[in-house]
Amino acid sequence: MTEAWWKEAVVYQIYPRSFMDSNGDGIGDLKGIISRLDYLKDLGVDVIWLSPIFSSPNDDNGYDISDYRGIMDDFGTMEDFDLLLAQMHARGLKLMMDLVVNHTSDEHAWFRAACEDPSSPYRDYYFFRDGKEGQLPNNWASHFGFSAWEKEPSGDQYFLHLYTKKQPDLNWDNPKVRAEVYSIMQFWADKGIDGFRMDVINYISKVPSLPAMSGEGFQLPTPYIANGPHVHEYLQEMNQRVLSKGDYMTVGEMVSVTTDQAKLYTHEDRRELNMVFTFEHMYIDAVGEDKWNIRPWQLTELKDVFTHWQTALEEGCWNSLYLNNHDQARMVSRFGNDKEYRVQSAKMLATFLHTLQGTPYIYQGEELGMTNIHFDSIDKYRDIDTLNHYKEAVEVFHQDPADVMKAIAYKGRDNARTPMQWDTTVNAGFTTAAPWLSVNPNHVEINAAQEIDDPQSVYHYYKRLIELRKQCKVMVYGTYELLEREHPQIYAYTREYQGAHLLVLLNFSGEDACITLSDELSSLPKTLLISNYASPACAALHPYEAQVWHWNT
Ligand code: NOJ
Repeated sequence: MTEAWWKEAVVYQIYPRSFMDSNGDGIGDLKGIISRLDYLKDLGVDVIWLSPIFSSPNDDNGYDISDYRGIMDDFGTMEDFDLLLAQMHARGLKLMMDLVVNHTSDEHAWFRAACEDPSSPYRDYYFFRDGKEGQLPNNWASHFGFSAWEKEPSGDQYFLHLYTKKQPDLNWDNPKVRAEVYSIMQFWADKGIDGFRMDVINYISKVPSLPAMSGEGFQLPTPYIANGPHVHEYLQEMNQRVLSKGDYMTVGEMVSVTTDQAKLYTHEDRRELNMVFTFEHMYIDAVGEDKWNIRPWQLTELKDVFTHWQTALEEGCWNSLYLNNHDQARMVSRFGNDKEYRVQSAKMLATFLHTLQGTPYIYQGEELGMTNIHFDSIDKYRDIDTLNHYKEAVEVFHQDPADVMKAIAYKGRDNARTPMQWDTTVNAGFTTAAPWLSVNPNHVEINAAQEIDDPQSVYHYYKRLIELRKQCKVMVYGTYELLEREHPQIYAYTREYQGAHLLVLLNFSGEDACITLSDELSSLPKTLLISNYASPACAALHPYEAQVWHWNT
């Protein structure tokens, strides 16, 4: 096992729009982040991943970039950014930026030039295609509903957009596009940033003929866009041109990636990326890959997914560990219990996240046990994915609006995007103005100020877990072995590294639960490293109890 700083790091994701507003316009900004850096330093995290802060018309909250070298007006200026980076580095915090280069905004100069003049060299930066017999070029669906094709503003061709129609896909087969991307990366690398989180990066090599999908209606073209023919070649080129020149941390967001593919992306000998974000566990409560089609899930399924990833990537590769982010529901609402056992289950899930092999990613507010929001009307939502889904489900598929709202309350991305809950004041201390997205009314009970003052809070439990990870290499590097796969309530596993061992017992249910351990494991003299209950009895667990035991051999 090769040791590395990015394996030992704990990452904290900031969604800048919702983190902290410094100028009273209801929108988070860079100066707001600066004002909260001490909070993050105290928490103990090492790396901050900033969701996009670049110039953008905000059709998809910054994941639609119109100038990769500019700062979004809502968020501040380049001076603010330089100060932020300097202030982070002064505290020993590293910065990972979001690289969104599968697509640009339709307001990017390249796309504008491509539309204004069909003979422009920028035309081949994108995918422009003719319609077929008065119809769209093919039946590909966008991830955000409806077709993935849109007619260009003044012309006859259509352009491809796998996300909103304001996010045209870039053609990576054009070497000029790749050179532009590397130059953008170099610009930020020269500023001194420490890493890149790469947005849907396994979509950058499409099957060139863009074949139609079989089946009725619009279909997600996964087989023709994910892990395409040149993706490894392009990532290796990117590594050689930019990443190999520094000690960067990289994580590729990858929709539809198997462990075999992930090994190719992350194996240390292949010089592509450090790790990927897989979605397999994010589909555990969905029918197929239709995230809105929700189904109940079993703990054995979760064990199978994680066990598969933990063991497959053990040799020379690395996992990223996350249970929520800006695209997912709050983890305590989804995998825990956000009512009676909110505190216990938030801590149990945190234990899970920090005791697997891989790099943990904490999403803002997770360390407080923040929960989903329950808006009663679609007008209160802001997320384009949610709004498009509502429109398509109700208007095209004639689904019952009440059912659609139920799915949105469970899975919608705005669950994670409500403003950070700093204190009990109006708007949770996030802003003095009307926030761009309503604050969760439960901020009077769940907020940073109170949790900092309460040694039993979720916040203090995270602090302790992060400290432990720094003290015990086995938490970072240890090999993983699953125990008792069939147990319906308890997820149990051991870790081992250089003679140090962990036994992790996690009750994923709201009922008491017991597990029978082997004689060897039960009789071992071991010490309790951490638990979310006051007096734990090994193997007999309270609702959502977590226990981590340690011993040496
Ligand atoms: C993944 C990002 O995390 C998400 O927020 C965004 O909408 C899509 N990629 C498109 O960029």
